[in-house]
Amino acid sequence: MSETVRLQKYLAGCGIASRRKAEEIIAQGRVTVDGEIVTAMGSQIDPSNQEIRLDGKLVTPHNEFLYILLNKPQGYVTTMSDPQGRPIVTSLLHGINVRLFPVGRLDLDTEGALILTNDGELAQKIQHPSYEVTKTYEARVLGRPAEKMLQKLEHGILLEEKQTAPAKIMVIARETGTSSIRITIHEGRKRQVRKMFQAIGHPVVHLKRIAYGNLFLQGLPPGKYRILSPKDLKKIFIKKIPLQNKK
Ligand code: URA
Repeated sequence: MSETVRLQKYLAGCGIASRRKAEEIIAQGRVTVDGEIVTAMGSQIDPSNQEIRLDGKLVTPHNEFLYILLNKPQGYVTTMSDPQGRPIVTSLLHGINVRLFPVGRLDLDTEGALILTNDGELAQKIQHPSYEVTKTYEARVLGRPAEKMLQKLEHGILLEEKQTAPAKIMVIARETGTSSIRITIHEGRKRQVRKMFQAIGHPVVHLKRIAYGNLFLQGLPPGKYRILSPKDLKKIFIKKIPLQNKK
């Protein structure tokens, strides 16, 4: 008996990209089903009887999923290619012979924790707002934000006409001219941390993501990565984050 599945779900399950990204790829007209370009969202396909191709290459399921945690250095882009020729994060993976894609993004000038995988379903789960996966950052900001201002950020501020969700904030150090602040959020808006601190008048001069959920970089040097175990993956979804101690 043949079974049908939504095209974007099939692509995600084959490790092409997260489901959301797979939808973009479909909309770009890069996917064919039995030789016909399909751009309609939610098209049902029958993988056992139909031929699915991405950019002309056959897409087949593979059941070996790999998850890695990379400490992204500054100056690397988190896209799969870059028209401007800047270095891409996947060029840091050596000896990994499966195609991995980054889960979400980090700005060019942000460093730190970046998960890469070929498991489109897990990537979707990590990024979907309903799972509220927290991300913790260490931001060095200009000046000394007043406690009142930091409380504002914790409660949520209006950013581009939309309130930010509650955040957790802890001041790590007050240096001359700057402060180091740890902030945990679960949203993933573009340049969110930078915009939040900018909004209270303390621009970010250095930003590093140190954790997804309770999965911390823990001493992984920039440019290096480690393969994640099932136990590590569970830590991503743990909601209670210790703000102190781990890095
Ligand atoms: N917030 C930012 O401002 N930049 C990132 O790269 C991630 C979160």
